[in-house]
Amino acid sequence: MRRPEALVLGALGTALAVVSAVGAADGPALKDLMPKGMLLGVAVSQGQVEEKDQAAVDLVTRHYDSITPENLLKWGPVHPEPDKYNFAPADTFVAFGEKRKMTLIGHTLVWHSQTPAWVFEGKDGKPLDRETALARMRDHINAVVGRYKGKIKGWDVVNEAINDDAEGTMRKSKWQQAIGDDYIAKAFEFAHAADPQAELYYNDYSLTNAPKRATAIRIVKDLKTRGLRVDGVGEQGHWLLGGPSLADIEATITDIAAAGVKVHITELDVDVLPRDPGMYGADLEKRAKFKAETNLYPDSLPPDKQAELARRYAEIFAIFLKHRDKIARVTFWGVDDGHSWLNGFPIPGRVNHPLLFDRQRKAKPAFDAVVETLSKK
Ligand code: G3I
Repeated sequence: MRRPEALVLGALGTALAVVSAVGAADGPALKDLMPKGMLLGVAVSQGQVEEKDQAAVDLVTRHYDSITPENLLKWGPVHPEPDKYNFAPADTFVAFGEKRKMTLIGHTLVWHSQTPAWVFEGKDGKPLDRETALARMRDHINAVVGRYKGKIKGWDVVNEAINDDAEGTMRKSKWQQAIGDDYIAKAFEFAHAADPQAELYYNDYSLTNAPKRATAIRIVKDLKTRGLRVDGVGEQGHWLLGGPSLADIEATITDIAAAGVKVHITELDVDVLPRDPGMYGADLEKRAKFKAETNLYPDSLPPDKQAELARRYAEIFAIFLKHRDKIARVTFWGVDDGHSWLNGFPIPGRVNHPLLFDRQRKAKPAFDAVVETLSKK
């Protein structure tokens, strides 16, 4: 028996022959359908790796062969005070993944966000100086990457260093202000020293915007010119139903690959709710007040929108397949709709539906569409 939404897909005349009749638990495991060499990952929470939520654990275990910690390895949670590291949740994350033979990704070492205030405080009330900033960065990277040496396969070394403007300028973050633009090179240098085998990535959102993408590619080329290791660029993939265009997604993949590194789609989700154009992307500074009239689907996603989301995912995965030689990993940013950050961004308090599994952990038509697309490969 097909689910009712699946019938709607057919009724809309899509090319999708929906294959999953019985749901995610008994249907195909997504990871087994991926092309050879392309991992399928998911971001996990602390509660999930602590196995407090069995339904989520089952989905993660069944469908994914890579995990990224959504928050627990960020500077704030893992290194809240100068001499205090909180490794327990990250240890649990690593144990969870190792038990399931998953590829572990570290997120993230150097970011302007979720970094405690003390990191950016200068001595004696003065602005943070370059040497102090570099020493803090090096110590943090040594401690965190060093602890998981040989266990975490790759790191988002620097996250979101580029602005969303028409020129793709460098973000004037506190790291950039204290150290200069070479803070990126330094972070890669420190990470490589801490684990020479680890893969190292630059990670950002909206690289589908050409100026931002050009700057990311300049960063990669600069790292290479300096003789530093860089294995990949992460396009986060925080996309919407209506954009970016498939052409821009494709150009992102081909341009990154042409720079000589692998493409990682690191934080995939598809926002189904309306957004002000100024709020595309994932800039956490840009939050609007709750707008009740834009909370369109507070109870559930209606069938026509389920079908639209399914089509969008099918088109996106078709592009991934087309460029399978360039893409090392596709990671979803959350297990199910109930756990998505998009319930709080850019407008807090809305009910969003961006992932393959709904709040009841049931596979959505979007899941079926991904299965169908991958099955045609
Ligand atoms: O854990 C605390 C909890 O103790 C406290 O009671 C609660 C009150 O607000 O906050 C909890 O922390 C929240 C945390 O998520 C865990 O749920 C933070 O406030 C909240 O800001 C944080 O949001 C995360 C956000 O990054 C900021 O770090 C999102 O979950 C996470 O999905 C999001 O992920 C980022 C990527 O790292 C980088 N790219 C963009 C992406 C989306 O913003």
